[in-house]
Amino acid sequence: MLSSRTCVGVVFGGDSGEHAVSILSAITVVKALRGGENRHHFDVIPIYIDKKGFWNAPEIGEQVLTNGIFPKEECIASKNERGFISFPVECEKIQVWFPVLHGPNGEDGSIQGLFQLTKKPFVGSGVLASALGMDKVAMKAAFSAAGLSQVPYQFFNASDLNNEESLASIFKNIESAINYPCFVKPANLGSSLGISKVFERKQLKEGLQQAASFDQRIIVEQGVQARELECAVLGGNEIEASIVGEIIFNADWYDYETKYSSEHSQALIPAPLPPSIKKEVQEQALKAFNTIDAKGLARVDFFYDDVSNQLWINEINTLPGFTSQSMYPMLWEASGLTTEDLVCKLVQTASNKSNLNQ
Ligand SMILES: Nc1ncnc2c1ncn2[C@@H]1O[C@H](COP(=O)(O)OP(=O)(O)O)[C@@H](O)[C@H]1O
Ligand SMILES: [Mg+2]
Repeated sequence: MLSSRTCVGVVFGGDSGEHAVSILSAITVVKALRGGENRHHFDVIPIYIDKKGFWNAPEIGEQVLTNGIFPKEECIASKNERGFISFPVECEKIQVWFPVLHGPNGEDGSIQGLFQLTKKPFVGSGVLASALGMDKVAMKAAFSAAGLSQVPYQFFNASDLNNEESLASIFKNIESAINYPCFVKPANLGSSLGISKVFERKQLKEGLQQAASFDQRIIVEQGVQARELECAVLGGNEIEASIVGEIIFNADWYDYETKYSSEHSQALIPAPLPPSIKKEVQEQALKAFNTIDAKGLARVDFFYDDVSNQLWINEINTLPGFTSQSMYPMLWEASGLTTEDLVCKLVQTASNKSNLNQ
């Protein structure tokens, strides 16, 4: 630890589509940092980034945490400001940054670069791992190089869709190498936003156009009939995998609506699995974590076909959801680590990181 009391700056909100989830995650993290034994060790400064990307003073952060929702436009400091202007003065006291942000600008390396420049430790992955974890094209390339098993996929640039000739060859390639049903995804989003499951060419065209409206880079993946497993990873120099959980839902796939309405989905912890598959998931989760050089925390998601006994890695999330109902803290709770102990460990892993003086 840096000193007997450590001042932790919890940065949350953000200008991504996952703003509301970030607020709920921050409520859990701040409560845990201020609860139990932790209250003797940590002072928390909550920094709320509003939807325009402006960094607000801590009293506004406290209000947002208390109310659980983002403030009305007139109550926030930014008024007409947009983006990062400067750190609120209170940030000078912060000894460790704790980003609780999801999606672009929070989970993709941007803010991690800013933290790196402050020369203060921060929880979680650095620039490289964050960027790799966020971009599905780069992530899949890294996993593939590490020999991790993934469903067949192809990637395209949105500009390829504007030209009839290249569009025809895209259709041909997808239909011969991947076929239907397939999933069309923007490379850089999250929460299932912009993703579609398509069953024929017309839908494929619409799905590609939809994905292109979100991102320049598009992934098309073979659709598999599979269970969805998740494993949490925690660590600094030594990393650990949690027990394995499963998401079950009453929908064809885990789309945005299903993800964020509790009546449609449920976490099964531990997942009912043969011991060999549990072990395989944990080993692959650790391998994926190391492959992208992740730090601190990540949740690694898998597809598992229990008929053919096949396991594919789906993705790594370097700043996973941290609400009271989120898999990441629940998996650790079930593995014997309370959320208070978990956030304490995360701050410790940040403080111990070796790359601060670079
Ligand atoms: N290749 C696939 N086969 C079957 N289902 C898929 C496939 N890809 C995505 N899905 C479904 O879509 C959901 C969201 O996809 P994912 O790649 O995890 O995007 P996000 O990063 O937005 O969470 C998955 O949880 C799963 O339900
Ligand atoms: Mg996902």
